[in-house]
Amino acid sequence: MIKINSITIKRGKKIVIHDVSLSWHKGENLVILGPNGAGKTTLALSLAGMIEQDSGHIIIDSKSVSDYDLTSLRQKIGIVFQDPETQFVTTDVKREIAFGLSNIKQDREKIHNTVDSIIDKLDLKEMINRDPSELSGGEKQLVAIASIYAMSPDYIIFDEVTSFLDRKSRERIYRLWDNCSSSLLIITQNFEEIKWGDRVILLENGEISFESEIQELMEKDIIPTQKTLFEKLLKENKDDIYNFERIMEII
Ligand SMILES: Nc1ncnc2c1ncn2[C@@H]1O[C@H](COP(=O)(O)OP(=O)(O)OP(=O)(O)O)[C@@H](O)[C@H]1O
Ligand SMILES: [Mg+2]
Repeated sequence: MIKINSITIKRGKKIVIHDVSLSWHKGENLVILGPNGAGKTTLALSLAGMIEQDSGHIIIDSKSVSDYDLTSLRQKIGIVFQDPETQFVTTDVKREIAFGLSNIKQDREKIHNTVDSIIDKLDLKEMINRDPSELSGGEKQLVAIASIYAMSPDYIIFDEVTSFLDRKSRERIYRLWDNCSSSLLIITQNFEEIKWGDRVILLENGEISFESEIQELMEKDIIPTQKTLFEKLLKENKDDIYNFERIMEII
């Protein structure tokens, strides 16, 4: 389980995350929604041990994030960013996917099998010998996801990974989410993706303004409240009405 205890994070002089507490159970998928600048990425980076909080604690499976060495932390928690280019380290796709596994010194045959299986799952065969830095934005995103997924960390954070993908590429990721043994934290502005969550969290101005089990959203009597919330979020994000209609169908 991951436990966030009253964390506050400043970037520059601004408080970006303000006294946030949250539990993320193993086996539970979370969805975080929120307008631009709400602090979603900042929260994700701190969970993955990439930036430090100014106060409060983050505990992953009974141990503070700061007490993990980088290798064991990456086996616990993986993160895929909005902009995947920043995390490529090799010059061909197959090596890129295998990179994390070779770092933790798995034997070659096991690495080979894992990499082949993820290439198959995400349907990446046509790009395995290419240089990741020369791929299109959407293709890069798929490779970044494959390389994190190959490590099969207990927890994976997807930070708006589908924003630049076409329907076909998005569906490859959705299939992965359908059959993923890791616990997922999906940060998204796309309401359609709420259905992969067990719990939905709304982050606004660095604070959790709303939190609910998806199951509860399905109970008819709370729909009007949800409608107001989602309408507000929608207005702030200037998102399209198509997504809004989809979420009303889902809840
Ligand atoms: N390195 C930084 N230095 C200064 N301010 C930062 C830094 N990174 C983020 N911020 C500020 O922190 C706030 C939250 O940013 P963050 O990227 O966490 O938001 P977000 O919810 O992920 O937004 P988006 O939906 O646009 O991705 C913003 O006001 C942003 O300008
Ligand atoms: Mg962000």
